[in-house]
Amino acid sequence: MLLEVALALVVGAVLYLLLFRTKEEILPIGDGWWGEGQKPNSAEDETIRPFKVETSEAELNDLYRRIDETRFTPPLEGSRFHYGFNSTYLRKVASYWRNEFDWKKQTEVLNKYPHFKTRIEGINIHFVHVKPPRLSKGCTAKPLLMVHGWPGSFYEFYKIIPLLTDPAGHSLSEEPIFEVICPSIPGYGFSEASHKPGCNSVSVARIFYKLMLRLGFREFYVQGGDWGSLICTNIAQMVPTHVRGLHVNMVFVSRMKFTRPLSLMLGQRFPGLFDFQDEDVRRMFPFLKKVLYKVIRESGYMHIQATKPDTVGCSLNDSPVGLAAYILEKFTTWTDPEFVNLEDGGLERKFSLDDLLTNVMIYWVSGCITSSVRFYKENLGQGIGGSQHDKVPVKVPTGVASFPSELMHCPLSWAKGQYTNIVSFKFMPRGGHFAALEEPALLADHIRQFTRKLEQK
Ligand SMILES: *[C@@H]1O[C@H](CO)[C@@H](O)[C@H](O)[C@H]1NC(C)=O
Repeated sequence: MLLEVALALVVGAVLYLLLFRTKEEILPIGDGWWGEGQKPNSAEDETIRPFKVETSEAELNDLYRRIDETRFTPPLEGSRFHYGFNSTYLRKVASYWRNEFDWKKQTEVLNKYPHFKTRIEGINIHFVHVKPPRLSKGCTAKPLLMVHGWPGSFYEFYKIIPLLTDPAGHSLSEEPIFEVICPSIPGYGFSEASHKPGCNSVSVARIFYKLMLRLGFREFYVQGGDWGSLICTNIAQMVPTHVRGLHVNMVFVSRMKFTRPLSLMLGQRFPGLFDFQDEDVRRMFPFLKKVLYKVIRESGYMHIQATKPDTVGCSLNDSPVGLAAYILEKFTTWTDPEFVNLEDGGLERKFSLDDLLTNVMIYWVSGCITSSVRFYKENLGQGIGGSQHDKVPVKVPTGVASFPSELMHCPLSWAKGQYTNIVSFKFMPRGGHFAALEEPALLADHIRQFTRKLEQK
């Protein structure tokens, strides 16, 4: 008996030291080089080159031929979206893509903001840079880095950019006004993919920090959801003095607290004990149905991408309709889990096919799906909670917009475990994982409120 207690204490202490202890206060910046072959001795070319999205006729004809040759499998009777993307509805999407979707017009939409590329750590980094179209005297624009996630792209921000860079043009008060920089994560869209293994969220955080310095910004705001949230968090952990404020619309809870399993068992009955608010309880309980089963049902893709990204990438990069099904399925159930019960997955309830297919096209024309899914292996290959940054607290002032249909709800009391200076946490009234594209006005409003709060201090 005594021996067992002693053993339990030792195991407990070792686990505690391995998992829960705060080791460092700042994430080391480090360095990296992701180009092809050997790193050259010469200094990197730091020029910033304008870029335009362009596609040739040949590429479009190849796309149309592949859409025409798609082999569909009929869905099971009455299955709606329970088995994944309903292929009867997929035929409709494919037919729209083939016959009505106007990519030429969409490239004009994409090119209405200035794009650039510049080389950082051996690879070409693509970004959109939007300055305020009008600025009253005495007003200064605040630089804001916005980072997308998977399976999204810089295009997710096209509806929120005008609200942030031109508030007066949208009947909003002029302050705060932002100058927005939306880069593509390496291996996503028009950013070159790393040629070497290991380019994870911390590497990308450093690359984007270097990008901001290169653009002349020494102090800036950062914002993101999905991978963007993790990358921006890493920037805040790495160079806190450069980050004025961190805003996220998804919280990764990686720092484990030993009370957490307990709170999941007892939180519904004793919310006060675990610092849960009523809305937390509504969103998380019953725990099995609202969190555990949902997460298991929605995260199969993650296991594949974190282990064998190149295999799944092979077929996705070869079939445009397969790629669309894989990407667009996320835009149904990650927007609202109830959409699985609808025959069309509710896809067009919150998004237009033009916007959705533009995002798919960014993956297709750049051929980036394989490199984009590799990011899961780079980040999750060591297991959750095993990375260095998981143990570094975030001290930069933080704002959290918590959308009700987000994949996994993170209560404020949990978020505080990693983000020690949350100045604004808001339960948003509606919206899901792709908040910037789905609810741009709500998200912009919270980013503005958060910034105003910080600027007043
Ligand atoms: C698939 O979607 C189509 C079009 O929305 C719908 O008519 C059909 O009933 C759905 N099929 C199944 C099996 O749910």
